[in-house]
Order: sequence, then C-alpha cells, then structure tokens
Amino acid sequence: MSSLRQKSAPRWTAVFLLCAVLCCLFVPAVTVKHENFKKCDQSGFCKRNRQFADDVSASSSWTAPYALDPTSITFEKGQLNGVVLKILKEGEEKARLPLTVTFLDSGVARVTLDEEKRAKGEIDLRHDSKARKERYNEAGKWALVGGLKVFEGAALNAEAEQGYTKVVYGKGGKHQAVIRHAPFGIEFQRDGETQVKFNERGFLNVEHWRAKVEKVEEEKKEGEEEKVEDEKKEDATGEDESTWWEESFGGNTDSKPRGPEAVALDISFPGYEHVFGIPEHATRLSLKTTKGGDNAYDEPYRLYNADVFEYEMDSPMTLYGAIPFMQAHRKGSTVGVFWLNAAETWIDITKKKNTANPLALGVKGHTDTQTHWMSESGLLDIFVFLGPTPQDLTRQYGELTGFTAMPQSFAIAYHQCRWNYVTDDDVKDVDRRFDKFNIPYDVIWLDIEYTQEKKYFTWDPLTFVNPETMQKQLAKRDRKLVPIIDPHIKNTDNYPVIDELKKKDLAVKNKDGNQYEGWCWPGSSMWVDCFNPAAIDWWKGLFKYDKFKGSAPNTFIWNDMNEPSVFNGPETTMPKDNLHHGNWEHRDVHNINGMTFHNATYQALTERKKGELRRPFVLTRAFYSGSQRSAAMWTGDNQAEWAHLEASLPMVLNQGISGFPFSGADVGGFFGNPSKELLTRWYQAGIYYPFFRGHAHIDTRRREPYIPGSPYTEIITQALRLRYQLLPAWYTAFHEASTTGAPIIRPNFYIHPEDDNGFAIDDQLYIGSTGLLAKPVTKEGADSVSVYIADDQPYYDYFDYTSYRGAGHHTVPAPLEKIPLLMQGGHIIPRRDRPRRSSGLMKFDPFTLVVVLDKAGDAEGTLYLDDGETFDYQQGAFIHRQFSFDGARQVLSSANLDIGHRTVKCEKYLKTMEKVRVEKIIIVGAPKAWKNKEEVVVLEEGQKETRRKKSLPLEYHAAEGKKAAWAVVRDPGVWIGRGWRIDFGDKVAGHEHHGHEH
Ligand SMILES: *[C@@H]1O[C@H](CO)[C@@H](O)[C@H](O)[C@H]1NC(C)=O
Repeated sequence: MSSLRQKSAPRWTAVFLLCAVLCCLFVPAVTVKHENFKKCDQSGFCKRNRQFADDVSASSSWTAPYALDPTSITFEKGQLNGVVLKILKEGEEKARLPLTVTFLDSGVARVTLDEEKRAKGEIDLRHDSKARKERYNEAGKWALVGGLKVFEGAALNAEAEQGYTKVVYGKGGKHQAVIRHAPFGIEFQRDGETQVKFNERGFLNVEHWRAKVEKVEEEKKEGEEEKVEDEKKEDATGEDESTWWEESFGGNTDSKPRGPEAVALDISFPGYEHVFGIPEHATRLSLKTTKGGDNAYDEPYRLYNADVFEYEMDSPMTLYGAIPFMQAHRKGSTVGVFWLNAAETWIDITKKKNTANPLALGVKGHTDTQTHWMSESGLLDIFVFLGPTPQDLTRQYGELTGFTAMPQSFAIAYHQCRWNYVTDDDVKDVDRRFDKFNIPYDVIWLDIEYTQEKKYFTWDPLTFVNPETMQKQLAKRDRKLVPIIDPHIKNTDNYPVIDELKKKDLAVKNKDGNQYEGWCWPGSSMWVDCFNPAAIDWWKGLFKYDKFKGSAPNTFIWNDMNEPSVFNGPETTMPKDNLHHGNWEHRDVHNINGMTFHNATYQALTERKKGELRRPFVLTRAFYSGSQRSAAMWTGDNQAEWAHLEASLPMVLNQGISGFPFSGADVGGFFGNPSKELLTRWYQAGIYYPFFRGHAHIDTRRREPYIPGSPYTEIITQALRLRYQLLPAWYTAFHEASTTGAPIIRPNFYIHPEDDNGFAIDDQLYIGSTGLLAKPVTKEGADSVSVYIADDQPYYDYFDYTSYRGAGHHTVPAPLEKIPLLMQGGHIIPRRDRPRRSSGLMKFDPFTLVVVLDKAGDAEGTLYLDDGETFDYQQGAFIHRQFSFDGARQVLSSANLDIGHRTVKCEKYLKTMEKVRVEKIIIVGAPKAWKNKEEVVVLEEGQKETRRKKSLPLEYHAAEGKKAAWAVVRDPGVWIGRGWRIDFGDKVAGHEHHGHEH
C-alpha cells in the first residue's frame, strides 16, 4: 500500500487536507513520474563521476592520481594497512586516504579507504551545520553480524615485483591479492587467475574535503558565468564545481554542509558475461548494460530507497530497497562484491569482448563485465568474494549480514490483504467466506484505514469497534491479523505517541537540529529515529499488549513507507541534510533507515509480554543488507498487468540470491483490476513466492479468491491447496536458507552453475533443494509453456508423472487449470495431503513422501520440522530427517540429521509429534521389476519392545505412453520423527517375509 497520488481516504477532512496541501505538487498519474526522481545527471555526484569516467576513458595520456605510499605499508595478523595518496596538484599537496585490506577466515577480503582529514575532524562545515565531520563509518554496525574473523594465515608473497604488494590468503593459499602501488589498484586472484579487478580503468575517485572559496560567493552577484570561471581559476583543476556546494531538485535544496564527498571505483570481472544482484530493480536477473545500445539502459542502476509510485518495468530506476551485493557468474566460477555503503549509489555496467588471452578460451568466458560504483558519501568499504560456487557466495554473504530468520509456519502460508477491510465485521465476514468456500488462508491484513485518523496504535472507534472479538474469531482456526504501523507519527494534539516522541526527543531532526516535520498519510508527521537506541527502546514499549490496546497474541506487524516516504520531501523522501542520532546526516544512512525501523518492530514483537517468546513476523517495504534477519519484504506497489506478473519472478529470484529470500509480489497486482484470467495465473505464480500475499488498492474491486466464481475460484483454490500441500517442503527450504544462506526459490544458474545456456534464465524456478521446477504462466491466453531443462535427469510432471527428458526446451501443457510443475529425478519431496483451512490446523497431519527416482534409480530429500512458533528450535526442539532411496539396495530409509541436540526441549517436542506418521509413499519412475511385486517390508527403529516390522502391499502402476510408472505404499504408519526403512528389494523382502514376522 502506498503513495498518495491515488489516495482517496474515506474521511473527507483527510482528503481535503491532503489535497489542499499537496494537489499543487502532484498530479494523478498512470505511469511513473520520471520528473519526481533523479536521473544520473540530476544527481551531482553521479554526473561528476560518470563524466570523470568518460574523460578518463577518452584520454590517452591520463594517469590515475592515486598511489599507495610503499613506506606506509604494514602487514600484521591478516591485515594490511597503508596510506593511499591522492595527488591534488602536481608536485604539491596530497590528500591522505588510509587503506586497510583485511583477509577473512571465510576467504573473503575487505578493502576500506577512508580520508584522514575528515576522519580527524580537521574540516569545516558550512552553514553552521551540526553534522558529523567523518565519513560515515557505521554501515557495518547495522549490516554486519559476523564473518569478520581474520585469517591469520594470510601472508605477504615475498616474490612480489617492484611496485606491487601481494598477499596470499584463503584456505590452502588459493587466493591472492595483487596490490599495485601506482596507480593504486588491486587484482584478486583465485588459483593464479584474476577474478576481480579494482581500478583497472582508473575511475577510483575519492572526493577529498576542500574549503569553499567564499571570495567567489561575494562576486556571485555579478553573474553566474563569472562565478564558475573564478572557481575554476581558484581550484585550477578544471573540475566542474556547479554541484559541489548546493543542489536543488523538485523545489528542495540540499545544503551539503560537507561539500563534495563522493566515493567511486571501477570493478571488473574478467571473463564473466553475467552479473546478478544489486536489488531492488524491476529488471531481469542477468543485469543489462547501462550505457546505451541495443537492449541496454542508458542510466546506471540506482540504489536509493524510494516510494516510486506506479513503477515501470524493465528499468534501472531505484525502488524501495537496496542490497549493494553483486555476483558475477561464468561456467565453473562465481565471484562477487559487496559495496558496504548506505548513501545514494549508482552502478554503471558495461561489457567488453575479451580478446586478451585466446589460450584461456573454454575455461573463461569471452566477455568481461565492467562495473562502476558511485556513492554520494561515506567510506569505500568493499568485500570481495572469490567463490567459486554460487552456494559459497550466498553462504559467505550470509555469514556477514546474517541468514534469513526462521519464520513462524503461518508466515509462509497464504496472506489475504486489501486496502482496506473496512470494519471488524468486514474482516469477520471475509474470514467466514474463506471457510464457506473451503479456501485455505492464514492471515488477514489491515491497511491504514483501521486506525483512528492515521494514528498508529489506535483503532477507528466507529469501524473497528471490537478488535478483540475479531481476533478471537481468527484465532479459532489459528489465523493471524497483520495491521500496518508506519514510521511517520501524526503530529497532532491528544495523541500520546507523538507527545512522547517529542518529549523524549526521539524523532529525526532537520538540518538545524530541530525535530523534522513532513507530510505523509496522517498529514503533518514526525519520524521515529531508530538509529537511536533510546528510540528503539521506546518503540518496543508501544507494542506491549496494554499499550497497543486491541492487539492480541495473533497480531503481527506490517511496516510500510519506511524508505522513508515523505510526500513533500525531495524524491518523496527525507532531505539529505536531515540529522539522525549521532548527528549523522540522512544522506549517509538513507538506505539503512528502513532496516533500523523494521528491526525495532521485530524486537518489539519479541517483548510484548514477559514469558511469551515467539518468532515475530514483520513485513517491510524498505530494506538493506541485513534486513533478512528480521523481516520479509514485498516488491511494493505493482500493477494488475501481465508485465508486472512476469517481472515479479526475476525480482523475487534476485532477492533470493542477494540474501533476502523471504520475498514476494502482491498477487493480483496492487493498482488496477486484473482480469479473472490474470488473477488466476497470478495465484498460480504467487504460490511460488516465498512470501505469498494477495493485495489490492482501495480503488479496486474486491478480488478475494471466492469472488471470481467458477471455474476461477476452484482453480485458485487448487493453487492455494498446492501451496499448503507443499508447506513441509517450503518450511524445509526456509530452514536451509536460515542456516546456509541458500535462496528459497532458486534460479537455473544456482542449481546448474555449469550450464552456460541457462545462466540468464529467470522465468522458472526451483523450490529449495526439492528438485521441484516451476514455470508460472505469465502470458495471456497461454495454453502451454516452454520449460528449460538443464541436465539429463528425468523430469516428471508433478500431477500425472508425464516424463520429460533431455537438456533443452520442452513444451509443457498449461491450460488455465494447470500449473506447470515438474519434479527433477533424484529427490524425495515431503507433503501434507489433507486439505485444511489454515496451516495451523495441519500441525499434526500425517505426511506423504514423493520419491522421484533419478536415472540411476536413487533419490534423496530432507524434512525440517519444529513447533513453527517459538524459539525452542534453537535449543534442539526440531525434527530434521534425511530420506534416501538407495537404488542398488532398493531401500528407502529415514535417518536423523540432528546431531547432538538431545535436549529437554527436544524430547518434549518429539513427544508432541509422537503420533505424526507417514501415511503414503509414492515412488515415481518405479522400476519395471516391481510389476509383480506384492509386498514391501517396513522396519521401524525404537526400543526393543517398540521396534516394529510389518509387510505391506505395494501398488504398482505401469508406465503408459509418456507417463512414467509409479508405485504406492499406503499407510506404512512409520513415525516422522523416527528412523525407519522400507525394503523394496526381492531378496531381503522375501527373506524377512519368511523368516520373521509371519
Ligand atoms: C536491531 O535491534 C537490536 C536490539 O535493539 C540492535 O542491537 C541492533 O543493532 C538492531 N539492528 C538493526 C539493523 O537495526
């Protein structure tokens, strides 16, 4: 939900107030308002650095003015220190830039470059600013949670040639950083081969502090022309100063008290044709180039969290969140960089045919990808990952920024949202209708209208008269409520929340140090500053049950508008010269701002009541590296158009490989009314988003799944049931994400990193490690899809076991009622087949295991289970099984993956699961030899007296046409938390059969 231009609040006073103040600024639009957002050449530092790069590229005689002073270099305990000198004037002054290169245990290297003058505070701020003088050095404090252990085995390479310093690092000494002193640059090598290059093209640029020559200011009156000339004379560098000291955009002026302070660097990936990452953009997974030409953008990718109204498709424009992590991929290698900077950032991408080393053909690609990173302020602080696999990248990035928090089980089920369910009776009615139509759902959401006049922590006394009863009704089927709470606090009388915010002085400040006031949904508002620990503490207090009256244990929270969205601010956000806790300028922390807010909400939900310790659920729109630790995200205000459905898949896949996989797009499209076909197809795609929510704008017609009628309602219900049936597989994928950083839905390259034909594929996905391959329909009128298969394993249709074999594209039927979903051979997929009204009601349901044999006749799979609610799993209260089908021995077995966790909490949990069993085993691609087989033998572990063995009938279905043979064992009765084996083999089964139980 968001953005004001289409807002028609139900209260005429509110409408009037908003219109009166804002209608002169904004006009309702049908597509994104480009003029509301900067292009690179409207953002001073981007324009300067892009121009600089162009000048450098065009010049034949130019040398980069940065040199590492060899006498400054020290190396100790895995860290190199030194000073890079920036030559300002020939033979004269130099700016000193302290350098550290740290080599980490994980094989990752970290390079930081600071500026001595600013670090020491030896600069003057203009306009009597109270801002800090240092370059912002706390991004790591918010983004990083680990992975920083230094690799003490890193060593200087004594054989480095004159003018270079080389450091050997990484396990087994496989990595080497080759540091060139002048001009300063670094090459990162793995196994002797260069993978990542810093400053290859000489675009390194640290805008050192300089005093504004105020003399010029006096002469200003005499004319613009003269001023520029004088400044140039004064500086004698020929640089364009026009954007150094002040910038205006859309009627807002940025006072820039520290002058120009950008940092920029070119980073090249030799031999890599594909780069992925740097969400959030509505673009393809494999990023396009940005300097014009065919199928290319002519603007750099931008990272500056913003409330972009009716965003457009296929664009490098910024969106709501930012993760400055990029990975480059080629056959046999994945590498990457994480640019730890929270200021406005732009990234140019170009590709170059690589002719340098023809001998390397076949190993390396023929294309180099070159990138150019530009941030407005802050440190240069870059992590370099040398892979070599995509799994290494996501794990190492996750070690630094944290893994996805394990959500409650309801959070991965279906969420029903709308702006707005208008009364508590409306909510109860929707809830009843879902039941009437037998449609499963877990969570119903409330957008801003539930509040009294947009005052968060209140309920509208006329429309939400009795929130308690409403939530009690939801709780009957273990359902939840998610109301919205945003960071803007209504600036009004008789509202204790704003009174406290002001009195305790916890709001973001304007450039003069007074509490900043801007406009948002409530009208005049202030913004809680969650960079301030005192603000976080206060925020936590607001969610206590006796403070947020009407909230209940099944209430969870949605944080929207936390970019932050400010209707009358520059680019719909805060002025950059606003001040946060510690007097950091908003400029420095902008992209982190939203994360501090949703994290504070997360913390608040853990402390609502003493003794009630359950996993919180918070949805956020703005995000940064680290947001995965405390929130889920959605892709913001999309539209009910086929193109938006299509774009959602690469966007969600990109979130996955960028460390924030708990993501989804609004099903149905937020703005506009989807056709019944689009709505149906969107549900069929939405069941594959890790975060799965239907949502709609206030001006749209109702579209809950029971609305469209036959056959759409039935088809949507089938899709929802498929999501619920596979919840055990989804939950297991979440567990994997939360322990290894692996994405929940995975693009082709991640599963098949050696398959060069599939690197750019972003319209199909694998669910976790299950081998489930889905290709959602995103085209109107389609009755089939083309699924790309990367390997020579057999793939089977999920529903009828039609087999598809051979690398390449396969046509899979997809009439409206069909969801294209294949199972890759080699996996065992856990399901729960009994349709229920909510996931909570499935808690003790039995399991079905689908064993999909690979070409060798083997299969493997895992299942992770816990109470789905508390943190007890951190003390061992979980079930984690490994299922294997051994084709040679013809045995299916379940083994424990939980090593050494036999705690009291664990035993207690296992007890609650004691009766939960496997009710069905399906073997897809069953061997022909089973045709005449009548029985299998089931053996379950346990104490002597509880050990059980029995024979069961095997039901065999022969292959038919393209449909594979399959077999079923019904009701083996084995317990899900126990070890067991089922013998399908002739010999053993026969032996057991005659020898024992009978
Ligand atoms: C999240 O909140 C905790 C507790 O207040 C705090 O220690 C941590 O720094 C916060 N992290 C972020 C990213 O805001």
